[in-house]
Amino acid sequence: MLNIDLTGRRALVAGVADDAGYGFAIAKALADAGASVSVATWPPALNIFLNLLERGKMDESRRMADGSIMEFERIYPLDAIYDTLADAPEDIRTSKRYNERGDFSVQGVADRLVADFGERPLDILVHSIGNAPEVKKSLLEVSRAGYLGAVSASAYSLVSMVQRLGPLMRPKGSVLSLTYMASERVIPGYGGGMPSAKAALESDTRVLAFEAGRAYGLRVNTISAGPLASRAASAIGIIEKMVDYCAENSPLPEPVRAEDVGHVAAFLASPLASGITGTTLYVDKGYHAMGMAVPKE
Ligand SMILES: NC(=O)c1ccc[n+]([C@@H]2O[C@H](COP(=O)([O-])OP(=O)(O)OC[C@H]3O[C@@H](n4cnc5c(N)ncnc54)[C@H](O)[C@@H]3O)[C@@H](O)[C@H]2O)c1
Repeated sequence: MLNIDLTGRRALVAGVADDAGYGFAIAKALADAGASVSVATWPPALNIFLNLLERGKMDESRRMADGSIMEFERIYPLDAIYDTLADAPEDIRTSKRYNERGDFSVQGVADRLVADFGERPLDILVHSIGNAPEVKKSLLEVSRAGYLGAVSASAYSLVSMVQRLGPLMRPKGSVLSLTYMASERVIPGYGGGMPSAKAALESDTRVLAFEAGRAYGLRVNTISAGPLASRAASAIGIIEKMVDYCAENSPLPEPVRAEDVGHVAAFLASPLASGITGTTLYVDKGYHAMGMAVPKE
């Protein structure tokens, strides 16, 4: 029987701080397929996340198909807007949420992975990070800093991770990120430069697939996911409306579930997808194929 077996593979999922988002569902699907999964969490969200885990608040959502509870091999602090610790300003480094975390930069995570697991510690890298300081502002209003902040946290962060973690990955490894169709179609209300960041992320996926494919034998893909009421998406302010609209107007008239994306991520990480790289793959119940809303009866 054809199945997804990631036994013996190690994954890092960056952008997990609760059990409501795509990163968590991907981590769970990878673990369900047998991979050892570490996560990287934004320092401002890390304490709450550790608390939820310790108090058993996520035990039910961590329960896997075989009945066991998913354990993260490591939980690393990561602020993906900093390539090295020296890039973080003094006031961030010394602030309460960061100062006891050690090196929370992208390079810091790379160094910790090597210290914990050796020279070639990784097979699967998932970037599930999105952040725009001015997400509620339209493109007519967004500041330069807000726009560049969105691109830095949501797109360059992938480039930085492939630069620094790509060389640590074993050949045939898989890099995956999450994008949204606002990169190519107008989604009113999804602002702050996020559409531009997603367009960059998709373009970078193609170029990184070529460069990291030739350099390290990696595959690089991105999933264009339908709307989900995650913590990050709630910041947009209209996520429930986006979810309902897509469910009503998609070929499959139902909301996208986080597991739908998790399962495709596990497939993309597996040898079954060894011919797929440089691709934007839609997991959105087919919404991207539509040209107009379904007329009301
Ligand atoms: N929810 C949706 O509707 C939707 C749709 C398509 C794509 N996506 C994408 O899916 C990915 C995951 O988002 P989600 O919606 O599941 O929400 P989420 O809140 O579960 O994940 C976003 C994560 O990014 C982390 N983060 C923010 N800034 C960071 C930084 N500087 N360094 C490190 N981590 C940082 C947050 O702490 C959070 O854990 C994002 O790329 C998002 O754009 C989401």
